[in-house]
Amino acid sequence: ARSRWAAAGSALLLITVGNFVLSSAARAAVVPYSVPLRIPPVLQGAEVTLQMREADVQIMPTGPPTRMWTYNGIYPGPTIRRPSGQTSRISFRNDLPVTFDRATIHHHGSHSRPSEDGQPNDFLIPRGSVRTYTYEHLERGEPEWAVTQWYHDHRMDVTGRNVWNGLAGMFILDDAFDSALPLPKGEFDVPLVIADKTFDANNQIPYTFSIVGTLGDTWLVNGRPQPYFDVGDRKYRVRILNAANRRPLVLALSNGAPMTQIGTDAGLLPAPIQRTSIILQPAERVEVVLDFAGLLGQNVVLMDTNTPATPGNPPKELMQFRVNRDLTETSSVPATLRPAPTFPTPTKDRQFVLRAVTNAAGTPTQWTINNQAFDPNRIDADPVLNSTERWTFMNVSPQPHSIHLHDVDWQLVSRFQVVLDASGNPTQGAAIPVQPYESALKETFFIPANTGFSVLTTFTDHLGPYMLHCHMLEHEDMAMMARFVVKAS
Ligand code: C2O
Ligand code: CU
Repeated sequence: ARSRWAAAGSALLLITVGNFVLSSAARAAVVPYSVPLRIPPVLQGAEVTLQMREADVQIMPTGPPTRMWTYNGIYPGPTIRRPSGQTSRISFRNDLPVTFDRATIHHHGSHSRPSEDGQPNDFLIPRGSVRTYTYEHLERGEPEWAVTQWYHDHRMDVTGRNVWNGLAGMFILDDAFDSALPLPKGEFDVPLVIADKTFDANNQIPYTFSIVGTLGDTWLVNGRPQPYFDVGDRKYRVRILNAANRRPLVLALSNGAPMTQIGTDAGLLPAPIQRTSIILQPAERVEVVLDFAGLLGQNVVLMDTNTPATPGNPPKELMQFRVNRDLTETSSVPATLRPAPTFPTPTKDRQFVLRAVTNAAGTPTQWTINNQAFDPNRIDADPVLNSTERWTFMNVSPQPHSIHLHDVDWQLVSRFQVVLDASGNPTQGAAIPVQPYESALKETFFIPANTGFSVLTTFTDHLGPYMLHCHMLEHEDMAMMARFVVKAS
């Protein structure tokens, strides 16, 4: 496996160089707020079929459409929305071009059986055929668990290319508890899928691999650059997904107003939390309530303040809310939401050290977990069904990562600085405070350079293999992935 990765690394590195040469061909500048926000269509049936196909999608406000790889001909794909605890049979037909080979669809965040999990090498969908995934939607093993998840391609070695080209959509689960809360509903419950892409002069998005992670030059919200959205002077529930390959987002509103966070990537928080700035790494989701009360006639911009504003380098403006509808408020945010589950004391600790392998020039050539490149034939952890474990991640690479664990949701219990001991082994240094919004369940965790965290969970319901990996997709494609197998005893 190692030599395969090494070979792939050197071949791909040649292409990497191109990533730093931004297309200088003139592409018409995007006129901000010239296109309306698109809301992807919602599929609610217990049995639906999606077609994976190449399609020309109008992304840019002007000029030619963008040829993309899509679910049902659109980007992002349709939102699949189902009641938790009820079985769905979602079929995907692979009609993508021949270069695509075989597909696999990962229902990110779901607690599915391994055969339905959409893993990189198993149960693939050959071109021209259909596969039906059966989802029980028993998140946390409980019938009631509303959550904002997503689905995307997860093919071995090329997930970055495939997701860049458009294979991503939102997957929302509802339950009676969430629906009975007075939160905004219906047209006031809005999904935002944010991802950056680089467009050439013809509005195309040729994928350029970068081992550090591929970045785009244009931020898309639901597949459009800087859209506007006509809203009323009331509250909206906004479900935000960072579907970028590698780019972290730091979300803020132009009027400095707080966003009321009500949920994470694993469902509702115990109580709402006011935040003026929200960091969202690739694959993370956040649910917020935005309140436009008293703002009739004004505009509010959702910004990515990741690069601090300096003269000539303002924060990126992602989209504009135009408060131009005089509406009656029908919603409120309850003071308490869903209590966080508690886990038994862990009976086992495991440790995962994240590193970069670099060449003589210091350029990364591969990403590893515990000094190993991904090997689908190796078991990296073997927790026992229904046991509780604490897993500790330590990042000794110079890059941040976004660690995603399949199968179950986790509780973050600590963050800390990583220091190297006398023999160069990483150890836990000073504690970093865990923020209140991190104390609920999650399955994707930001890990800045030279820091670590510990999470714990109980492995319920399903035996068999699952993945853990960095969700910066080029890191995943360049070996920062491992396999754990839940065993019976
Ligand atoms: Cu969204 Cu294994 O990933
Ligand atoms: Cu990474």
